[in-house]
Amino acid sequence: MTVCEYKPGLEGIPAKQSSISFVDGHQGILEYRGIQIEELAKHGSFLETAYLLIWGTLPSQEELTDFEREIRYHRRLKYRIRDMMKCFPESGHPMDALQACAAALGLFYSRRALDDPAYIRAAVVRLLAKLPTMVAAFQLMRKGNDPVQPRDDLDYAANFLYMLNEREPDPLAARVFDVCLTLHAEHTINASTFSAMVTASTLTDPYAVVASAVGTLAGPLHGGANEEVITMLEEIGSVDNVVPYLDGCIAQKTKIMGFGHRVYKVKDPRATILQSLAEQLFEKFGADEYYDVALELERVVSDRLGHKGIYPNVDFYSGLVYRKLGIPTDLFTPIFAIARVAGWLAHWKEQLSENRIFRPTQIYTGTHGEPYIPIGERQNADDQDQLTGLITE
Ligand code: ACO
Repeated sequence: MTVCEYKPGLEGIPAKQSSISFVDGHQGILEYRGIQIEELAKHGSFLETAYLLIWGTLPSQEELTDFEREIRYHRRLKYRIRDMMKCFPESGHPMDALQACAAALGLFYSRRALDDPAYIRAAVVRLLAKLPTMVAAFQLMRKGNDPVQPRDDLDYAANFLYMLNEREPDPLAARVFDVCLTLHAEHTINASTFSAMVTASTLTDPYAVVASAVGTLAGPLHGGANEEVITMLEEIGSVDNVVPYLDGCIAQKTKIMGFGHRVYKVKDPRATILQSLAEQLFEKFGADEYYDVALELERVVSDRLGHKGIYPNVDFYSGLVYRKLGIPTDLFTPIFAIARVAGWLAHWKEQLSENRIFRPTQIYTGTHGEPYIPIGERQNADDQDQLTGLITE
């Protein structure tokens, strides 16, 4: 076996062969099944895109209609899942609630038949259908309200905004939200997708696959960055404060949230589309007070850090779009999960078709042949540190 060089974060190491999506980080290209993201954002819908990702081809009108109908039918949650959610603390993060609910689906749909296409389809439909209902239900329940039942006459995006805000959304808001879902649906082997693949490779159930991916997406270096962008813009507060803020970040070597990407070394194409969606919303519903700050930050960061390939990523403008849609900040990452479940399921299905359990190796850096010290003779690690400190001083 060839011994490979150790790469922290597995940077540049292929973890699988995949035909689901493609990124060219130098030219700013993202394709789902060979179709450019700009085309899908302009002409497609999220569910059509999910179908494309999971089954590999764009659906015919009949296939799409059937798929949408199945999803509508499965949007409701079992009352026992709602009862479980009632026990969650209101102060808990909605990503934790979503992870717990996704995992709980495995208790209710426990038959595992990974070689049965009908089982695969049912799991795909249930996860796509129920995750939005879970997020909206948790939002209402933590405010002390009853969850709103899904409405069958509304499409996927409009229904989610309706369940969340308890009123039918403006058509532009629903269309913009649907495009946001499309933009977040898939992005090659990022941390959460890798997590999904590793879990899938053990041949566990798809609910466990999605629950592990949700947990991974929650971190601030991944999906959680979109929340931090808003906190950062609030902290900067005004256009005049952008340069001093950035100076502080550079001096303290703090990362600027919503900038930089392991793969993109130019502006993320999704950020460009999201920025234009934000502008459409501002034109119809009024500007966001932080948009000018965001524009100035992008200008100054590109100027100062562009040589390192640091440009806005998908999370930079998504928060401003979601704010305008009346979505609370801590739901930004759960919404990312509602979209990304399409990509996770596509990778789950691809993994099953050519499965080999993930079992990487390591480079051991510990010692060998250490004695077993009886417990009464051991020292606390702190005491040992102090002793070491005393000896070296
Ligand atoms: N602000 C300032 N400098 C940055 C940033 C940033 N956001 N991102 C990277 N850099 C700098 C690093 O300091 C480093 O500089 P150096 O070479 O002089 O030490 C260089 O660029 C390379 O950075 P790494 O952290 O090694 O890049 P990596 O590929 O490991 O990290 C990551 C990518 C995690 C996304 C990083 O850019 C980051 O933390 N960004 C902020 C958080 C964020 O927005 N995450 C969302 C990513 S998109 C997504 O997950 C959906």
